[in-house]
Amino acid sequence: MNISWTTKSRALSLFDVFGRGALYFTQKYVTKRSVVELPAIPRPWKFHKANIAEFGSKNLIEFGAGKNLGQNLYISQPELRQHLVDLNPMLDLSLVNHVVTLLAEQYAFEALPAVQSLGDLEAKYAIKYDAPVDMTSTAFDDDSFDICISTNTLEHIPLVTLEAILRELRRVLKSAGIISAQIDYSDHYAHTDRSISKINYLRFSEQAWKRHNHKFFFQNRLRHSHYRKVFQDAGFEILREQAIKPSKRIPDDLDPDVLTGDDSDYCLAGLWVLRNC
Ligand SMILES: C[S@@+](CC[C@H](N)C(=O)[O-])C[C@H]1O[C@@H](n2cnc3c(N)ncnc32)[C@H](O)[C@@H]1O
Repeated sequence: MNISWTTKSRALSLFDVFGRGALYFTQKYVTKRSVVELPAIPRPWKFHKANIAEFGSKNLIEFGAGKNLGQNLYISQPELRQHLVDLNPMLDLSLVNHVVTLLAEQYAFEALPAVQSLGDLEAKYAIKYDAPVDMTSTAFDDDSFDICISTNTLEHIPLVTLEAILRELRRVLKSAGIISAQIDYSDHYAHTDRSISKINYLRFSEQAWKRHNHKFFFQNRLRHSHYRKVFQDAGFEILREQAIKPSKRIPDDLDPDVLTGDDSDYCLAGLWVLRNC
């Protein structure tokens, strides 16, 4: 279904008023945006799995785990303990069990056990889920984790909060601990409106963008080189980075003030492997 992005923006201003519960209800039962389809195993799932294997990680944290835990089921293995936190308790066990079925039916995963409760999730998959937890300030001990994974979450976090999260990760990750992250740099309105470019939102000044940047659909619009600076300033070493180029023509009316001048400004996603040093 194609949804004009301006119509979606107007609808989202209603949720600014009615709240997150009303948004989740609409996504689940009206627009059905919560329903998972798995035409292929998503790139970040494979990326995180490869990084966990390469660095021999045993104790993982993810913040902003979302609703269906698809990637956590995919990377799950008996010797990997996963601790998932989220600012908002978004987990939906019916969606988790839907992914369990898809992995078994479409990808010949050994029949995975269904999950009835959070206790079940921990007992069967070594996945502990905690929400609400704000990743800017957690109760975890220093040096608790080998790796932090993050998928399509950082782009929703304001810069000052992102800096605070990175400070907290420096503390809770072991020395030489890893961050494995995919960041989606595309305009998320373009996910449901095929008539606009995937970086349409870069046409707007900071001021003009504010009226479309809603509470529950916040996008920071930071570009790949902005993130490089933020990660380095926070004290992380960049082990690997990849910016995914757009396949279509770049619009020529972008606002120069929201760009850095680097070619990677037009990229649609970034893959990062960072080391805590
Ligand atoms: C777009 S969703 C993540 C989607 C999920 N990673 C996936 O791949 O399906 C962004 C998530 O980040 C969470 N989040 C935002 N700020 C946070 C914070 N300070 N601490 C923990 N979670 C946060 C939100 O509650 C939300 O669940």
